[in-house]
Amino acid sequence: MKRILVMNGPNLNLLGTREPDVYGSQTLDDIEAAVIRHADELGVSVSFFQSNHEGALIDRIHAARNDEDGIVINPGALTHYSYALRDAIAGVGIPAVEVHLSNIASREDFRAVSVVAPVCVGQISGFGADSYIRGLHALADYLAGEAR
Ligand code: DQA
Repeated sequence: MKRILVMNGPNLNLLGTREPDVYGSQTLDDIEAAVIRHADELGVSVSFFQSNHEGALIDRIHAARNDEDGIVINPGALTHYSYALRDAIAGVGIPAVEVHLSNIASREDFRAVSVVAPVCVGQISGFGADSYIRGLHALADYLAGEAR
C-alpha cells in the first residue's frame, strides 16, 4: 500500500476561522477526515503533519525518506519564498503535489509565484478543500503509474 504524507504549513491550523471568504469554513480536521475517506477508497494510507515552522516542515520531509512514498503539501505562504523547503523536496526525491485552497494565480502578485512548484510533480490550486482530494487522487495515480 502506498503511503502518502499530507503536509500543511504556516497558518493552516487556523482554517475554519481564518479569512473564511478566501479559505472556506472547513477546519483542517474536516479536511483531513475527507482525505482519509478518499484514501480508503483509493487504497492508500495517509498521515498528516502541520507546522507553523519552516524547519519543522523540512525535518519532516527529510524523515519521509524512511516512511513515505509521496507528499501532498500546502506550504502556505512559504510557497512563495522558501527556497529551503523547495530544496528539501528536491533533496529527498519523493514525488510531491502542491495544493492550495485559493487560486494563487488570481490573487496578489506575490502569490502568483511558487518557488516550490518546479520541484513538484504538479500543482492544484483554487478548488477549496477539494484541492487536497484532487491532489491525493493525482498523486495516487502518479505513484501507481510509477509502480507499473
Ligand atoms: C494558501 C495560499 C497562500 O498564498 C497563503 O499564504 C496560505 C494559503 C492556500 O491554500 O490558498 O497560507 O496556500
